[in-house]
Amino acid sequence: MSGLNAKLAGQGRYFGTAVRHDQLAELPALRQAIVSNCGAITPEIELKWAALEWERGRFNFQPVDDLLAFADKNGLAVHGHTLLWGQSIPPWAQAHLEQHPGDWSIVATYMTTVLSRYRGRIHQWDLVNEAIDTSEQDNLRRNPFYKAFGPQYIERAMEEARAHAPDATFILNDYSLEYDNPVDNARRRAMLSLLEQHKRNGTAFEGLGMQAHLDLGKGHVNKRILRPFLEAVADLGMEIYISELDVQEADLSAPRDVRDQRVSDEVQRFLDIVLEVPNVKGVTTWGLSDNLSWLNSEEYKRLDVKGARSAENRGLPFDGCWFPR
Ligand code: XIL
Repeated sequence: MSGLNAKLAGQGRYFGTAVRHDQLAELPALRQAIVSNCGAITPEIELKWAALEWERGRFNFQPVDDLLAFADKNGLAVHGHTLLWGQSIPPWAQAHLEQHPGDWSIVATYMTTVLSRYRGRIHQWDLVNEAIDTSEQDNLRRNPFYKAFGPQYIERAMEEARAHAPDATFILNDYSLEYDNPVDNARRRAMLSLLEQHKRNGTAFEGLGMQAHLDLGKGHVNKRILRPFLEAVADLGMEIYISELDVQEADLSAPRDVRDQRVSDEVQRFLDIVLEVPNVKGVTTWGLSDNLSWLNSEEYKRLDVKGARSAENRGLPFDGCWFPR
């Protein structure tokens, strides 16, 4: 084994990347780079509810199955992303949740169908994605699941999930847990208390997913802040997955070599901290090359998340020219 996965595999960890089935089909160089560098893949879109069941009852499993076939052929694990995410609910389901609050049946059908189909093939799942919102009193985001079922939706999802995949690892995945600023600090506190609460209630998660969308506009990660958090999660008996690593640049006008060094330094700082903690089991980047990064997608630019960008963000391991479209 070589490439990025080699070192981590020696430590009982893995390196993985998010990838889409269409990219795999179109880009042989990308397939090769994944095989050489990764021990796992995460479907970037295909396992989200809106992608799977855009029309009620008509599941579109083919893209996931394509990704799984590639994974099987090359001995890669597959990270299931994601069961419940407020931003990826098919419109019909969203309408149903609004019109019939409390009716769990459509969530049950969806979860049962997906978990049973991939039982024994996908062993770890982001059960709930992006549940935290510290502007709410109970720190829980008012997503359509919360609105339909109240704060209990997370416990309920865990019970449902366990019933269909008793041996799987279920993960609470979230963002902005990495930096030393009032927002991230509050989010880490909220995350810890949510994890503790679930442990007390008998619906403990096996894992925490830290998306780790690093951001040079937020300064630098530091050990004084991150280490105690990682240890507190480990003390709860939980594993930690770095699930969507990439770097948002702050100054796209600097020379390329300067920019690349800044990106690589920040990743190095982050990995030096997290990989000291044995409970960190895997590191996944959100794509392998800059040109395939969601941060450079048209959608992202249109949303103008960080102001209009004039140059391509270079926050992933490979340069954009590696896997030309
Ligand atoms: C993003 C994908 O990268 C995009 O291609 C898609 O259009 C929207 O979702 N946090 C998550 C991921 O948990 O699922 C998101 O992925 C990026 C932010």
